[in-house]
Amino acid sequence: MAFTTDATVVSPARRVAGRTRVPGDKSISHRYAMFGALADGLTTIDGYSPGADCATTLACVRALGAGVRQIGDHRFEVQGRGLRGLTAPDGPLDAGNSGTTIRLMSGILAAHRMRVTMIGDHSLSKRPMQRVIEPLSRMGATFESDHGRPPLVVTGADLRPIDFTPTVPSAQVKSAVILAGLQSEGRTSVLEPAATRDHTERALAEFGARVDVDGLKVSIDGGQRLTGRAVTVPGDISSATFWMALAAGTPGGAVEVEGVGLNPSRTGIVEIIRRTGASVDVEIETGGDGEPMGRLRVGFDAPRSFRIDPVDVPGIIDEIPALAALAAMLPPGTELTVRGAAELRHKESDRITALALGLRAMGTAVDEFPDGFQLRSAPLRGATVDACDDHRLAMAFAIAATRAAGPTTITGASAVDVSYPGFFDTLDRLTRGDGR
Ligand code: S3P
Repeated sequence: MAFTTDATVVSPARRVAGRTRVPGDKSISHRYAMFGALADGLTTIDGYSPGADCATTLACVRALGAGVRQIGDHRFEVQGRGLRGLTAPDGPLDAGNSGTTIRLMSGILAAHRMRVTMIGDHSLSKRPMQRVIEPLSRMGATFESDHGRPPLVVTGADLRPIDFTPTVPSAQVKSAVILAGLQSEGRTSVLEPAATRDHTERALAEFGARVDVDGLKVSIDGGQRLTGRAVTVPGDISSATFWMALAAGTPGGAVEVEGVGLNPSRTGIVEIIRRTGASVDVEIETGGDGEPMGRLRVGFDAPRSFRIDPVDVPGIIDEIPALAALAAMLPPGTELTVRGAAELRHKESDRITALALGLRAMGTAVDEFPDGFQLRSAPLRGATVDACDDHRLAMAFAIAATRAAGPTTITGASAVDVSYPGFFDTLDRLTRGDGR
C-alpha cells in the first residue's frame, strides 16, 4: 500500500482470511461522553472510539467545563457538571466532520442559558440542521444558522416539553429532542416514523434516568438527574461491516470480528449480508452496559442479487456504501437495488452520487435514483476514485479495490480517521498476511 499526500493505493487481495477487532462504536462513544458531562460525578469510559469524530465530542464537553482525562488506551474519565451545569466555552465549539456531535449538542445546549456557536468542517457546513432547529425552537431555544446549515448559534432557555413527530427517521434528531426533554420541565415524547438506533435510550437508562419506550414512541420526564458510572463501548458494527463485505465478496473469504456491538437496532446488516448469499454466524457474548456484544463470522458462500428496500434503510443507513462495494465484487451480472435511501445524499457526502462515480470508474454499471441506485456488477478494474473526504466511501472503495484487476488509487482516503484509524493496516493484514 503506498501513500501520497492524501491518496492511498489499494492492491488486489491475495487471499481474505483472519480475525480482527474494530474501534469502539462511534454512536455510543459520543453519547457516553456527553451523558458523562451531564451526569453528577465521575464516568469512566472504556473502549472509546479512536476516531476524529469522537475526539471532537470530548473536546466540546471539555470546552463546556466537564473534566476530561485520558487514563489509558481508549480509556477516558469524564467529570460531570450535573444537569444543565455546563459552562460557557471561550470560543466556538468545533464539531469537525461530526453530525452526531453538532445535533446532539444542540439538544444539550438548548437548555443551557448561554449563547454558544458551533462550527464544522466543509462537509458538515453543508448538512441540514433544520431538523433539530425546528423542534428545539418549539421547546424555547433560539437558533441562528446559515439557512439551516452550520455555523449554528444556540441560545438556551428554560425549555417547555413537546410531543414531536419527525418527518425523517433520525436517531440524531430523536436524541437531540430527548436530551432537551431531559432538561425541561414536564414530559417530552418523540414518535418516530420508523425505528432508529436506540443508544440514547439505553445509555440514559444506564446513567439512571427512566425512559419510556412504547413502540415507536420514546418519552422522558424532564428533571431526572444522571449519575456518572463506568461504561464500556463495544466495537462498531458499522466498521465491522467493511470486513463482512470483504469476506462475503471474495471467493474463499472468511473473516471473524470480535467484540462487536450487537444492539438489535444495529444488527439489520446481518440479515442483509445473508441476503447477498454469504454465511454469517453471530454469537452474543455479553450484554453489559445495556449494549450486547459478541462475535461475527462471515464467509463467502453462494452470491446472488439482492435488494435494499425502504423498510430496511433506517437500520442500515451507514452500511450502504459497504454493501454497494460488496455487490460490485460479486460475480458479473449480480444486481443490487437500493430504494428509500434519499438520506444518503445528506451524509458526510452525497453518498449516492459519490458511490456511483467511484464504482463506475472501476467498471460497475450504476444507475442513480433520487432515493437510491441500481448497480450491476462487472469485472472490476483498478482506477482512480474520489472518496470525497467521506470515511465510509474511502473504506467502501478500498474493499471493492481488493477484487480489481489492478491497483486502485483512492483520493481523500485519510478520511478513514474519522471513524477507523488503522483501517488500511488491518486491510493489509486480512488480504495479504496470515490474517492473525
Ligand atoms: C447516528 C445516526 C445516523 C447515522 C450516523 C450516526 C447517531 O444519522 O447515520 O452516522 O449516532 O445517532 P441520522 O440520525 O441522521 O440518521
